[in-house]
Amino acid sequence: MSKNLRALAARKGLQSSLLSTLQLGAQSADGLNIEKMRALAEETRFSPAAVLGTASFYDFLEPGRVPRRARVCNGTACLMGGQQEGIHNQLVHQHGADGVGEVACLGLCYRGGAYQLDGQNFAGGSRTDAADLSIPFHSAVENSLFDADTAEAESCYRLTPGDAPNIHHELRLSHLRGRGGAGFPFARKVQLCEEANGSTKYIVCNADEGDPGAFSDRWLLEERPQRVLAGMYAAAVAVGAHSGVLYLRAEYPEAALRVEAAIDAFHAGHPGEFRFHIVRGAGSYVCGEETALLNSIEGLRPEVRVRPPYPAQAGLFGQPTLVSNVETFACVPWILAHGGAAFATLGTRESKGTKLVCLDRRFQRPGVYEVEMGTSLEWVVQGLGGGFIKPVKALQVGGPLGGVVPLSHIEGLGVDFESFADAGFLLGHASVVAIPADFPMLDFLRHLFHFCAEESCGKCYPCRLGTRRGFELLQAASPAQPLDPAVFADLLETLELGSLCALGGGLPLPVRNVLEYFGDELRPVLTGEGA
Ligand SMILES: Cc1cc2nc3c(=O)[nH]c(=O)nc-3n(C[C@H](O)[C@H](O)[C@H](O)COP(=O)(O)O)c2cc1C
Ligand code: SF4
Repeated sequence: MSKNLRALAARKGLQSSLLSTLQLGAQSADGLNIEKMRALAEETRFSPAAVLGTASFYDFLEPGRVPRRARVCNGTACLMGGQQEGIHNQLVHQHGADGVGEVACLGLCYRGGAYQLDGQNFAGGSRTDAADLSIPFHSAVENSLFDADTAEAESCYRLTPGDAPNIHHELRLSHLRGRGGAGFPFARKVQLCEEANGSTKYIVCNADEGDPGAFSDRWLLEERPQRVLAGMYAAAVAVGAHSGVLYLRAEYPEAALRVEAAIDAFHAGHPGEFRFHIVRGAGSYVCGEETALLNSIEGLRPEVRVRPPYPAQAGLFGQPTLVSNVETFACVPWILAHGGAAFATLGTRESKGTKLVCLDRRFQRPGVYEVEMGTSLEWVVQGLGGGFIKPVKALQVGGPLGGVVPLSHIEGLGVDFESFADAGFLLGHASVVAIPADFPMLDFLRHLFHFCAEESCGKCYPCRLGTRRGFELLQAASPAQPLDPAVFADLLETLELGSLCALGGGLPLPVRNVLEYFGDELRPVLTGEGA
């Protein structure tokens, strides 16, 4: 990324976002045409190439064409539901082929049959289902971290700079680890950001929740927005920041409305210096990666940045920035109200507190469940989820970069970081998508590679080329023309070792899980046996 571009973005700051201007253009009747982009380049002093580079990155902007009215969800849970082709055909019949596109996941995995029409989400394959898309929620812990009472949030808003040492102390005691996937210790990140030098500091809430199968952040944003905002506010007091930015994915229009209302209420009641801002994404999975996300907020093409420096040292507009997940921030008000030590009494040795788990539509009782960390996965599946509506052979846990757990291996797994890692899986954000017994694992692998190839930011070649090449190899594979195991193994190793971020680097894990546990099913395309 050119230094000049970044400096230009920094001069503009949060007030003038190229991304939001592009979004307005894309939503107008004639879409984002060349004239509009040229004018925008003149106005912003970004080069026309930089404007096109940003615009062409996002699924929802699509420069050079009129806006699409409808998008059909092709996320993992919907895809395996088998309804999407019918929905697509029906929408094409109503709005023409040009008016209908695709979207990676609308976070309606507990219902399936999801699509977006004129900016509104629908599920169950029918418009009559639009009225109630609220997410079923159940807390399986005695003292939920996320109850609806706003008193804990309000008490965060009374924190002052003098409280900073105590906030750091309680966060350290809590051993809270980031809920966005990597499980990084939150207190350490807050401390790094506080210690970093900068003329200003930012708090950024990663509300991009792109993992198909995940909708727990959406639940928090829609049902408990004050807890998320209060957690961001407390973190801001701890690091000395005056701005909190929520990066919210375009696929969650309802969440945006609820968060906007909560922010308005905060601003009305708290006229101090601290301000919240919402930046809306425009359809891109990789924008959930924290450095791509920062580039996206700055209006730059959202490629992943090389680290170090880490965002806590030099993040948004080059300033120290704390980027954390929605659920991570939402834990903070409870921790400050009850004490970090109380939080640390919940969970396991290395995973404290509770975790929100998402169960998709294959479960008898789909929805979001709050469980103490370490809770048996089997109990979550059977006791909370009620088992499955149809036979299932595996669970995809933690999204496309998470693991694939055969049903025969869930015994002994707990909802915590270490038990998943020890067994060769990944808890990630703890979304659970059930893979039906009759869904071919070859198609599942093709879907994973296709998703990653479409969503790769293109910055590093192992991922840019490797995801595409992997998809092509799988598309071509058949019993008559089996995969070359040495080439495929080489490709996975190159992805794992050579990729700059966890999109390319994380893809081999689920692929290897599938090869290990479903080798029998895949044998014809792996060896040609039975051709
Ligand atoms: C391809 C990719 C997508 C990601 N998507 C998300 C996301 O949607 N939400 C999220 O919180 N973290 C996501 N992450 C992780 C973030 O980079 C980052 O680790 C996280 O926001 C830090 O917050 P935490 O410490 O609270 O977990 C993603 C990472 C990668 C590599
Ligand atoms: S691994 Fe993929 S998404 Fe990540 S930096 Fe490389 S090209 Fe971009």
